[in-house]
Amino acid sequence: MHVDLYERIWMWAASAMIALFLAVVAFSAATQAVHPPGEVETIDPLQVRIQGEFAAPGVHRGPGGETTVVVVAEMFRFEPSVIRVPAGEKVTFRVTSPDVLHGFQVVGTNANVMVAPGYVSEFSLTFPEPGEHLVVCNEYCGLSHHLMSGKLIVEEAR
Ligand code: CUA
Repeated sequence: MHVDLYERIWMWAASAMIALFLAVVAFSAATQAVHPPGEVETIDPLQVRIQGEFAAPGVHRGPGGETTVVVVAEMFRFEPSVIRVPAGEKVTFRVTSPDVLHGFQVVGTNANVMVAPGYVSEFSLTFPEPGEHLVVCNEYCGLSHHLMSGKLIVEEAR
């Protein structure tokens, strides 16, 4: 069967492209090149509820008066669902998921992280003004994703 030279060149070019794409997919899968932003800390998702700080999620005051908010994001709620933090002070959030990918966004603020099972998403923020904010999950996580919300209340500084 005669195949035109020009056609053969394009067949090879197409094959080379497919091979390249497969190589990229294989490389990404092998090296887990897709990570949530700021990821440095890993956690066993099966242990999240059982041991460590995430077994008792909530707002914690450290010995130096620092505020740490430990949040579990799971299908389809945040625990704690109501978070109270002081205004004008640095607040550190530590969020993880025991099941699937979620988001943790405090509407109207700069707080917005991806929450992946296996990782702790940590960030710090100061809320200048007292007020109430909606907390939403902004990653599609299942049928009741749209019901997954909470509240963050910024209280007058003590
Ligand atoms: Cu959790 Cu969407």
